[in-house]
Amino acid sequence: MMLRIWLNAVLLICGLFCNATGAFVGVNIGTDVSNRPSAPDIVAILRAHQITHVRLYDADAHMLNALANTGIEVMVSVTNEEVLGIGELASTAAAWVNKNVAAYAPSTNITAIAVGSEVLTMLPHAAPILVPAMSNLHKALVASNLNYQVKVSTPNSMDVVSRSFPPSTATFNTVLNSTMIQILQFLRSTKSFYMLNAYPYYEYVKSNGIFPLDYALFKPLSPVKRIVDPNTLFHYTSMFDALIDATYNSIADLNFSGIPIVVTETGWPWFGGSNEPDATSGNAEVYVNNLIRRVSNDSGPPSQPAVPINTYIYELFNEDKKPGPISERNWGLVFTNGTSVYDLGLSDAEITGANSSSSFCIARPSADEKSLQDGLNWACGHGQANCAAVQKGQPCYSPDTLQNHASYAYNDYYQKMRGSGGTCDFGGTATTTTVDPSYGSCRFTGSSNSTLGGPFPSTALGPVGPSSDSPRTTAGLHFGTIATLCLLLM
Ligand SMILES: *[C@@H]1O[C@H](CO)[C@@H](O)[C@H](O)[C@H]1NC(C)=O
Ligand SMILES: *[C@@H]1O[C@H](CO)[C@@H](O)[C@H](O)[C@H]1NC(C)=O
Ligand SMILES: *[C@@H]1O[C@H](CO)[C@@H](O)[C@H](O)[C@H]1NC(C)=O
Ligand SMILES: *[C@@H]1O[C@H](CO)[C@@H](O)[C@H](O)[C@H]1NC(C)=O
Ligand SMILES: *[C@@H]1O[C@H](CO)[C@@H](O)[C@H](O)[C@H]1NC(C)=O
Ligand SMILES: *[C@@H]1O[C@H](CO)[C@@H](O)[C@H](O)[C@H]1NC(C)=O
Ligand SMILES: *[C@@H]1O[C@H](CO)[C@@H](O)[C@H](O)[C@H]1NC(C)=O
Repeated sequence: MMLRIWLNAVLLICGLFCNATGAFVGVNIGTDVSNRPSAPDIVAILRAHQITHVRLYDADAHMLNALANTGIEVMVSVTNEEVLGIGELASTAAAWVNKNVAAYAPSTNITAIAVGSEVLTMLPHAAPILVPAMSNLHKALVASNLNYQVKVSTPNSMDVVSRSFPPSTATFNTVLNSTMIQILQFLRSTKSFYMLNAYPYYEYVKSNGIFPLDYALFKPLSPVKRIVDPNTLFHYTSMFDALIDATYNSIADLNFSGIPIVVTETGWPWFGGSNEPDATSGNAEVYVNNLIRRVSNDSGPPSQPAVPINTYIYELFNEDKKPGPISERNWGLVFTNGTSVYDLGLSDAEITGANSSSSFCIARPSADEKSLQDGLNWACGHGQANCAAVQKGQPCYSPDTLQNHASYAYNDYYQKMRGSGGTCDFGGTATTTTVDPSYGSCRFTGSSNSTLGGPFPSTALGPVGPSSDSPRTTAGLHFGTIATLCLLLM
């Protein structure tokens, strides 16, 4: 019975990875980053974290070249500064498409053009030129015979919706009616999609405690706190779903239907100022991992259960050059050296079977000694890591620090067990890195030089759920297990 339920769960989620129409989770790559890695290094980081979809805020030639022949799907953007010219002159739009899209096709898989960023709320005076710009770009794509693979749309913030709760009564700001109607007509006639930037973080902060934090973080709510739309009686298990439904209802209010929503931005800041207490790495880790799980289940929001919610996480790196509150500069998933800021479901899941040897698990430099000792004991004990190499006289004994020994043991466990759901967590004392931690004759498991053949001994596969004495499990865990099995079942 248990096995059957479990297999059903596997098959359900299998729909996502095994079927090309399943929902995806991609990542935004911002530009306000000092020490931004080179384009090939960024692509290496994307591959190490198995990221299959990206959105660029421009159409940077280095990035578009580096993304060629990677299988990664790319959304390019017209900047807000460029919208005006493209809307005014069809020839400017044609030149833009030739230079930034046609020149890279088909090796770089550009699938969408985002026209501007939140133009209706950031540059309201440009609203009249927005649809002409989208339309000119579409005509240029038609001329290049690229209109079937490249869709044109424009990302809107939730601020275009006047009242988002309850979702059933949400409408677009009435001052935007005529622009919105033109946008929706364009999206419908070109079979494109609505681009939505949806931030439960900001909605939660703005709501001043009306909504529980758990609701913003996709955590289960106690029955008394359930969020129900009084008109439809839909239960909202997350604010993310409610924001998407508010947008679907605003679209329906203008009598449009059949236009899917793609979430072009969502995320959670992992660090903030003293007046931003919810911007923590703990909350960010929970939000992002639960988001990935939510999207990966392939269902839509309550009003559109059959429409998957393709989503781009904001964002790959911290944009440390951005102005504004401290949290504004701390939305990154990974540091510029490729190390995850927190444990990431994206990297735990062996979705594509891509170069998995490039991810290692090491002890966090900031971890306290007691927790490290517990993690080390667990890894070498119940975790069955091979800890021979850190014994006195062996190659990884020196430097004789907890940090070093724990890193070795954590990584050995992770390389052997991640194929069957083992995560790199160890009570929050561990983190993944793409940098091979091997040194001298101390070769870490999974290093191309290590004695162990591959990181996934096939015997480790099977329904090895998290054992109850495991220090801590994470949201990404089952995601990883199931994705791996999904590949096996194919
Ligand atoms: C590009 O992405 C689209 C959409 O997923 C896919 O159908 C197509 O096969 C991809 N093209 C290439 C050349 O990989
Ligand atoms: C905008 O649309 C709403 C809903 O259809 C309607 O009630 C409202 O009068 C419209 N406003 C304007 C300014 O056209
Ligand atoms: C939507 O359709 C309803 C019913 O046909 C109509 O009363 C309403 O005016 C329409 N609204 C808009 C914005 O076209
Ligand atoms: C998918 O997620 C939605 C929203 O959280 C939930 O209502 C639904 O039951 C989930 N479906 C599965 C198969 O887990
Ligand atoms: C990567 O960079 C972060 C932030 O600067 C740092 O804390 C971490 O130790 C680095 N990781 C590696 C493996 O160098
Ligand atoms: C994996 O990555 C390493 C280091 O970047 C590279 O040398 C190796 O060829 C890659 N293997 C595969 C199968 O792509
Ligand atoms: C293998 O290890 C040696 C040191 O023992 C190092 O010089 C070499 O670069 C390593 N090769 C790879 C492919 O990592």
